[in-house]
Amino acid sequence: MEKQIKVLAFAGSLRKGSYNKALVRAAVEVAPENVLIEVFDLEGISPFNQDFEGNPPQRVVEFKEKIRNADALLIATPEYNYSVPGVLKNAIDWASRPRADTPLEGKPVAIMSASTGRFGGARAQYHLRQTFIFLNMQPVNRPEVMLSDAPHNVDANGNVTNEQTRQLIRQLLEALAAWAIRLKEKPQ
Ligand SMILES: Cc1cc2nc3c(=O)[nH]c(=O)nc-3n(C[C@H](O)[C@H](O)[C@H](O)COP(=O)(O)O)c2cc1C
Repeated sequence: MEKQIKVLAFAGSLRKGSYNKALVRAAVEVAPENVLIEVFDLEGISPFNQDFEGNPPQRVVEFKEKIRNADALLIATPEYNYSVPGVLKNAIDWASRPRADTPLEGKPVAIMSASTGRFGGARAQYHLRQTFIFLNMQPVNRPEVMLSDAPHNVDANGNVTNEQTRQLIRQLLEALAAWAIRLKEKPQ
């Protein structure tokens, strides 16, 4: 039997009708049998304050614990002003502290993005990858899942209707699972 991989997935948008939440929903639907996805909502994570990094709010404690217990992360990021939205960066900042107690260290991670524009959030993805360098996270390189023109590829119920994107998400999860297993067997 294939090894089971636990993935924590979250979108960097709080919006009810978020296209990035739709990507996460699609990931749950197309996940391979050995990939178990838990979805986390960033709602309720307060703005980062370093005074409390050692004793963070309960929602942050919960977030960090779920990251720790996951074998890998799946992040769907919107693109705001050519970068990562504050909501997502803020959550990552909380999870990255204190340095000696971050569950992000060495964590395998895959990125997806959806935007209403033509580039599907590509610029935000590369900014996110830059953050992963400092955190020594282990991102999957391919396939790149970037859904452009989201309003025409997600229906009114938040379902991703673009079949090619659904297939790419499936391939991304397969790559993430294989990567997480490889890193577990032979840590970097
Ligand atoms: C503050 C702000 C900045 C934005 N900047 C960009 C951008 O740089 N590139 C882009 O493709 N879309 C941009 N957009 C449009 C987003 O792609 C769109 O709002 C998208 O629906 C956000 O993701 P969500 O549906 O998951 O909330 C921006 C939207 C907002 C609110």
